[in-house]
This record gives sequence, structure tokens and C-alpha cells, in this order.
Amino acid sequence: MSNILILQGSPRANGNTAWMAEEYKKAAEAAGHKVTLVNVAKKKINGCLACEYCHTKGNGQCIQKDDMQELYPLLAEAEVLVLASPIYYFTLSVQIQAPIQRFYSMMKPANVKKTALLLSSHSPNVYDAAIAGYKLISGFCGYEDTGIVTAMLDEQKTDATRQKIANLVKNI
Ligand SMILES: Cc1cc2nc3c(=O)[nH]c(=O)nc-3n(C[C@H](O)[C@H](O)[C@H](O)COP(=O)(O)O)c2cc1C
Repeated sequence: MSNILILQGSPRANGNTAWMAEEYKKAAEAAGHKVTLVNVAKKKINGCLACEYCHTKGNGQCIQKDDMQELYPLLAEAEVLVLASPIYYFTLSVQIQAPIQRFYSMMKPANVKKTALLLSSHSPNVYDAAIAGYKLISGFCGYEDTGIVTAMLDEQKTDATRQKIANLVKNI
């Protein structure tokens, strides 16, 4: 059984992305996995300062003492990393990009083996940039992509999308 961390990057607590993240959590817990779900959009997580403190005298520690400090231990323990984001201007939300870019102090979460991506949007055909970024990051870190579920307007909060997410969990 795997230790799964879901980062949910929409500020809307009862929105479509939150629903997708919850469905993933429910299906993964039903399969016996340990799941931690964090709404990173509700956290105070700044962008990376590029100060290089972490790679010099900080010895891997980030100098910024914001809510990212809660996430670092969760990231260090996670074996599966799930990113859930709304599409904002054709890409991942800033709220989820901030913690991803703050991986920099650890370069990559060391125990993660597998990843998944959940995306929500208004329109079809708006996922290319988010998917490309996700695949590049997952590949750069040497992780295995277990799959992607997208849900535009009339696919949101449906049984069909719930089933796609449940199928994704089977790839862990
Ligand atoms: C700032 C902002 C930018 C958005 N940009 C896009 C976009 O480029 N393409 C699109 O299809 N939907 C866009 N949307 C719509 C959201 O992606 C869509 O409503 C999504 O389901 C919201 O997820 P949520 O319910 O989890 O917040 C945008 C919404 C916001 C607030």
C-alpha cells in the first residue's frame, strides 16, 4: 500500500478540482492506500526566491518559513504525488505552481515513484500546457506517470469522471 499526497490547487473549496481530488482520495483509501490531501490554495506559499540558501549553507532547508514548511515533510514521505488543478489561462494555477517550484530546495521529493494529474476547466482543448508541464516535471524527477483525468464543464462531478478517477487509482 502506498503513501499518497494530493496537492489541490483551486481556491474553491467545493469546486470541481476539489471534487476530483476528493474522489481520488476516496478511491485510493478504499483500495487501502494512505492519503493526505492538502488544499495548497488555502496555504501561504510564496514563490521561490532563487536565493540558493538551500543549496549552500541551508543544507537543503528553504529559508522561507511559510506554509511550505508543513509540506516538505509530507513531500519527503510521499510515494505517489497527485497534482489537481483548475486550468487558469491555459495552464496550472499559480497556487499549485508555487509549491511545485519550491521543490527546488529538495530538487525532487525523494520517495515519490508515481504521479497522476487531475485537471478541471470550463472549455475543451485547453490542457496542452498543463499536461506538458506536468509530464516534463514528472520525467525530470524520474517518476512514472500513472495517468491524467480532465473534466470540462459538462464532465464535472459526474459518474463518468468518478469512474475515470477510480481507474486511475488502479494504476498505482
Ligand atoms: C482565473 C481563471 C482563469 C481561467 N482560465 C481558464 C482557461 O484558460 N480555460 C478554461 O477552459 N477555463 C478557465 N477557467 C475556468 C476554470 O478552469 C473552471 O471553471 C474550473 O472548473 C474551475 O475549477 P474549480 O471549480 O476547482 O475552481 C478559468 C477560471 C479562472 C478563475
